[in-house]
Amino acid sequence: MKQIVIQPVTRIEGHAKITIQLDEQGNVADTRVNVVELRGFERFAIGRPVEELPRIVPRICGVCPWAHHLASSKACDAVFGVDVPSVAKKLRELAYMGHFIHSHVLHFFILSGADFVIGPDADYSVRNVIGIVQKVPEIAKQVVKVRYLGQMMTQTLGGKAIHPDVSVPGGWSKPVTKEEVESLKGMAKECLDFATFAIDFAKKEIFPKYLDVVKSLATIETGFLGTVKNGELNLYDGDLRMMTPDGKYEEFPAEKYLDYIGEHVEPWSYLKFPYYKKMGQFSMDLNHPVGIYRTNALARINVCDRIPTPLAQKELEEFRGTFGRPAQPTLLYQWARLIELVYCAERAVELLNDPELTDPDTRQAVTPCAGHGVGVVEAPRGTLIHDYETDEKGLVTNCNIIVGTTHNNAAINMSVKRAATDLIKNGVYDQGLLNKVEMSIRAYDPCFSCATHELDGRIAVKIDILNAAGEMIDTLAN
Ligand code: MG
Ligand code: NI
Repeated sequence: MKQIVIQPVTRIEGHAKITIQLDEQGNVADTRVNVVELRGFERFAIGRPVEELPRIVPRICGVCPWAHHLASSKACDAVFGVDVPSVAKKLRELAYMGHFIHSHVLHFFILSGADFVIGPDADYSVRNVIGIVQKVPEIAKQVVKVRYLGQMMTQTLGGKAIHPDVSVPGGWSKPVTKEEVESLKGMAKECLDFATFAIDFAKKEIFPKYLDVVKSLATIETGFLGTVKNGELNLYDGDLRMMTPDGKYEEFPAEKYLDYIGEHVEPWSYLKFPYYKKMGQFSMDLNHPVGIYRTNALARINVCDRIPTPLAQKELEEFRGTFGRPAQPTLLYQWARLIELVYCAERAVELLNDPELTDPDTRQAVTPCAGHGVGVVEAPRGTLIHDYETDEKGLVTNCNIIVGTTHNNAAINMSVKRAATDLIKNGVYDQGLLNKVEMSIRAYDPCFSCATHELDGRIAVKIDILNAAGEMIDTLAN
């Protein structure tokens, strides 16, 4: 029995390793994606005044702070039972568009781009961000600029881009000025120009070249979960829509998530495995998966009926015309992400033209109380759920968080198994092939820093000990 270990998985957020077990013939017997970090935020929220959580949870992750900041604010709004002023909702959503722009550009070009721009089989010494800068310097400059602009949009609105504190229970603490709106308009317009360039570039230069890989690598069949408002794509607000692989779906309000989503636990990963309860007993068997659904860009593109901005809607129609609904190929996450990039820039421009944006009444007063609140946003990496309960002093007594990457845990494991099983035959593999296995994880743009925030007593540690020749001599597990 031989084991192939890919560690660390590179160009993702956080840390993970892949282990691939080969049988006597050198074919794949089993694979696992081990997530090897632990953070524990659900526990140390307990006992804190709930209004502190929107400032604490952004520390879960430096890549995804706005998603936690806003989901937490919404959960607090619900705990306090306040309706946030309409201008505050718009400011939250606008800042979030900046965050999405930064995040999607980061992922597509800097983390995943090298696999396509340089090539999936290229040597790893050039298959990286430096390789991209050398190969397409003009685009690389633009990428750095637009990612910066996304961050600066959030900073202009919120004072700081990373670990924000501007959104508060009941609203938004800093009204925006007319001058700020004008400077933001310039930024958003530049982001929109780049977004339309990026998707045209990808449709001309990238996807056609790798269409076989895109259609076949790590393709699995699952359901999808995402937020819609009146059937339309919405990243900040709406109901959850759960779609089964046959394209049928049902919708439910965020606070009912526990009626629909169960959390399965495996002893070999820190990460839970959420699944669609109604489908029956969880299984990620490649031939008979049960209850597996995916979140993140491809899921949102699949579950929505329409996108409420014109250029992104045109892209959706073209995408759907080519790949159907729901589109299942895992690498289509990359394409879906670019459609969302166009949407976010368009939506930012739209919001900036709204005269209500400079309304100074951005905040409702709140009073500590016993309550229960669920806040959901679509994070760049998938549906993000924050669920808080408080006692009569407003102190947190229970905190549950399910992040985008956690929803995708089973699907990521299945995709890796699919890719490894298809690619590794008779013990033959090379670096390019193992990179393709990694690409099947990268497509999900996972953030394991976010996903391993919990500490609930059911965790497992697994340590593989290898000798100098790279052979495993022992495994320690609790
Ligand atoms: Mg949790
Ligand atoms: Ni994160």
